[in-house]
Amino acid sequence: MNAPIRVAVTGAAGNIGYSLLWRIASGDCFGHDQPVILQLLEIPPGMQRLQGVMMELADSAFPLVHAVTGSSDPAEAFAGADAIFLVGSRPRSKDMDRADLVAANGPIFVGQGKAINDNASRDVKVIVVGNPCNTNCLIAKANAPSLSSRQFTAMTRLDQNRAVGQLAQRAGTIAANIEDVFIWGNHANTMYPDPSVATVDGKAATDVFEADWLQGEFLKTVSTRGKAIIVARGASSAASAASAAVDHMRDWWQGSDDRIVSMALPSEGWYGVPEGLVFSFPCRCANGEIHVVDDLELTDFAKAKIQENVEALLAERSAVADLL
Ligand code: NAD
Ligand code: LMR
Repeated sequence: MNAPIRVAVTGAAGNIGYSLLWRIASGDCFGHDQPVILQLLEIPPGMQRLQGVMMELADSAFPLVHAVTGSSDPAEAFAGADAIFLVGSRPRSKDMDRADLVAANGPIFVGQGKAINDNASRDVKVIVVGNPCNTNCLIAKANAPSLSSRQFTAMTRLDQNRAVGQLAQRAGTIAANIEDVFIWGNHANTMYPDPSVATVDGKAATDVFEADWLQGEFLKTVSTRGKAIIVARGASSAASAASAAVDHMRDWWQGSDDRIVSMALPSEGWYGVPEGLVFSFPCRCANGEIHVVDDLELTDFAKAKIQENVEALLAERSAVADLL
């Protein structure tokens, strides 16, 4: 057995937290030989619900869980953290876009970025789930100047998993037979699920499906799936979001086995995306590092979609200039 690692989760008494904590505790994320100390953060009105969650975690008797702490103080929750899931923030309602949340949620990531900067492990890996996640990640990183931008990511894995689900359903196969479809850009309706190097049962997805469907119904279904779930469930996606957060952090921590995975991270100029914008790229992970796949040939359609996402993210960045 390894020594325990410290894993912080914010919004731990919320809907995503209620799925996420059990997946982390069971070993699905960091490995079945990796003990964890869970450091949970809530705001004061959530502390009683958090007590209940902690009671249930104790009642689950996970062998890998060495301790669970609950706090409303970010400095305490992030102390020594090796991995941090920034989930805590408000979800949208069905008449909102994700970007409409920036005024309510953006300020949360100022204080949390600073607390991560001052208290977390120097090697911490951060995933932002709370929406609008790309721009919230930008805010958190801007407020953590002593950490590397390579340590901050936002989640577009749910969008990738949705794309896999749609392709599998259309082809009449299982999700495991779909590889290397990935997401460009913002976790918003402008996102581009790119099938150009994807395979279905080993065959090129672009040969299996018609271009009209890939650029039409497929793109629309994946990019608006969050709203469709809110309408159907009366609440935003939770179990699938938690599962995607586990997939993202697991691949970062343990490697993606040469598969292409989607992660939003501060651009270093890849594909002409302005430096610093938190943008989803095709990535591979190995030895705890994320490597952007930077040599794909882009179709004109992909170039136009990337530009659309750059413009949307530049507008979000301007809207939060006072938080950076
Ligand atoms: P929820 O309302 O059920 O839970 C959020 C929890 O966060 C609440 O318990 C609340 O008390 C807590 N919280 C609020 N502010 C906090 C703060 N400053 N510090 C710590 N905790 C705080 O919401 P949810 O369904 O768990 O969703 C959480 C967020 O994740 C939302 O913003 C949602 O839009 C987003 N989300 C993102 C994705 C994605 O793919 N990136 C997918 C699903 C949901
Ligand atoms: C999702 O994609 O399900 C989440 O971002 C929730 C939302 O508001 O769409």
